[in-house]
Amino acid sequence: MAKRGAALNAAMALAFAVLVFYPRMAWAEGNAAHGERLFGQYCAGCHGPDGRGGAHTFMPHVDTLTKKGYIDQMPDEYLAFVIGEGGAASGKSAYMPAWKSKLSEQDIQDIIAHIRSLPNF
Ligand code: HEC
Repeated sequence: MAKRGAALNAAMALAFAVLVFYPRMAWAEGNAAHGERLFGQYCAGCHGPDGRGGAHTFMPHVDTLTKKGYIDQMPDEYLAFVIGEGGAASGKSAYMPAWKSKLSEQDIQDIIAHIRSLPNF
């Protein structure tokens, strides 16, 4: 009995995992073109149109998002967290706003796809 229950639990856990993670895998292919529009609208003012920090009039200075060997080391989950929850929640500068009330998870995935498509320097 107990053994059968465990097998059932495992099967349910697997089904649950597929339900939870499959859509995330599908999102991993964000729509970079849509992300580019959103980035221009919401992010470029501080991060620059090419993610390199842009407006040096903005204080504190925003470092480049596209430094070689940096952004590609950051998992999507981390980027989605910083973008959704903001800098303060991520131990970064509180000048980085939280976007989850403005942007959907799909929007954020699209922006990440766009950031990853930017040339690295
Ligand atoms: C008001 C200015 C501002 C706006 C607008 C803004 N950011 Fe930021 N962002 C910052 C600052 C400041 C930091 C912190 C930089 C640091 O600590 O090096 C930051 C950090 C980040 C990081 C983390 C970088 C790292 O080094 O880990 C990501 C990713 C990011 N922003 C993405 C975005 C996206 C995407 C948008 C648009 C939806 C956006 N930001 C809009 C100011 C801004």
